[in-house]
Amino acid sequence: MTSPVERAAHVEASERGVQRVPSRVRVHPATLRGTVEVTGDKSLSHRCLLVAALIDGEVHVEGLAPSGDVAATAAALQALGVRIELDARSDGRLSGTVTGPIPTDDTGAVVLVDCGNSGTTLRLLAGLAAGRDRRITMDGDASLRRRPVDRVLTPLRAMGVEASAAGDGRRPPLTIHRGVRHGVEWESPVASAQIKSALLLAGVAAGVEVTVRSPRPSRDHTERMLRHAGLTVLTDEGGGSETVSIVPGRLDVVRLSASRDPSAAAFWHVAAAFGAGPITTPGLCLNPGRTGALEVLRMLGADVRLTDEMLRDGEPLGTVHVAQGRVPRAGRVEVDGALVVRSLDELPVLALAGALSDAGLVVREAEELRVKESDRIATVGALFSALGMHLEQRADGFVVPGGQQPGPGTVEAHGDHRIAMTAAIAGSLGTGPVEIGGFGAVGTSYPAFLDDLRALGGSVEVLDG
Ligand code: S3P
Repeated sequence: MTSPVERAAHVEASERGVQRVPSRVRVHPATLRGTVEVTGDKSLSHRCLLVAALIDGEVHVEGLAPSGDVAATAAALQALGVRIELDARSDGRLSGTVTGPIPTDDTGAVVLVDCGNSGTTLRLLAGLAAGRDRRITMDGDASLRRRPVDRVLTPLRAMGVEASAAGDGRRPPLTIHRGVRHGVEWESPVASAQIKSALLLAGVAAGVEVTVRSPRPSRDHTERMLRHAGLTVLTDEGGGSETVSIVPGRLDVVRLSASRDPSAAAFWHVAAAFGAGPITTPGLCLNPGRTGALEVLRMLGADVRLTDEMLRDGEPLGTVHVAQGRVPRAGRVEVDGALVVRSLDELPVLALAGALSDAGLVVREAEELRVKESDRIATVGALFSALGMHLEQRADGFVVPGGQQPGPGTVEAHGDHRIAMTAAIAGSLGTGPVEIGGFGAVGTSYPAFLDDLRALGGSVEVLDG
């Protein structure tokens, strides 16, 4: 029997109120320096909405990124019956209220959701919807349709969920046909915050016990936010691996907030370390699972300082100052193991940092790069060739010799915001203009990127609005 379609959450990003980003730009060499307040953190913004949607009553949320990915999560929750009211504040970030919980539904109706480019929306919402016993079909753009979802569906099935993935059983569209029936102890082969969070949210939503073991620790935003909302969450990081368990309980909190995005700031940090700098980025999320890029920049010789550190709503944050280091480093910097997980999203722009450094960079055990918004080992390789630089692609990472400078050229973003922004930094720091196609992808995480680039002294020509 096919279920009736209840509501469709397919809304174009522009209709979701997201600032439009030009699709083709040319970035010219320039001296970047100053202070920049980057956008709200993407991971935290998703979680503010998702966790608030589990709480009975109104939750105030603040600091959210006004981006395509976060708008996709908000639209999906609204389609499931959650009331969300968000407004842009003077710095562009979103604040407002979320009134949950996601209602259960016994009509059997399937809610259709367009997750756009957002893997976090798709995977975390799969857990949440299954936990509330809701039928939902989630799809997305061409980039999202290439990304694996079996990593979440297999453990959800171990919780009694009936689910399918129309893309050869492994990829979106993904449908939840029946929700969680019991708890699970799951051993994940991959250190992924998305897998861990999907299972924890499923457990909280269904009121069952969940334990997730991972080979290495990953960002613990979900655990911190759940604890902040009063849940018992146990974590053990013995022997390099990570075990997280939740005990079912009631969530109760009046405010959830997102600090600023360190993965967005990483573009400016690389510019500051290897361009003119210095650059200061206040109010950044400093969750230990997110500070790997700052460590890699230090290893590459950059001068990185933290001030104004504090804890807010369970998450550490602070101001990061980056400038060129004075001491040249010899010998390649090696990134592997736990440091890969802690710097995964920044590795495209860190590849550029490696090229600009004296030392050079070797990245290993980073095969997860192949299943991000693009195959980032291949797309960073293509970006390097297009700009006349050398990068050796390996199955699980890459080797970048130091002492290189990007030349002029034309680069494609391949539907990947972080490739587009890495190309823009290459254009700013290199010897000639870099033309970037598919630049609109930047809207998924950092729609104000070009405004911030200009404010720091960057030079951008818009070729196609
Ligand atoms: C995210 C976790 C990471 C990261 C992604 C956002 C999250 O993915 O790459 O951009 O918000 O949980 P994995 O956990 O799948 O590695």
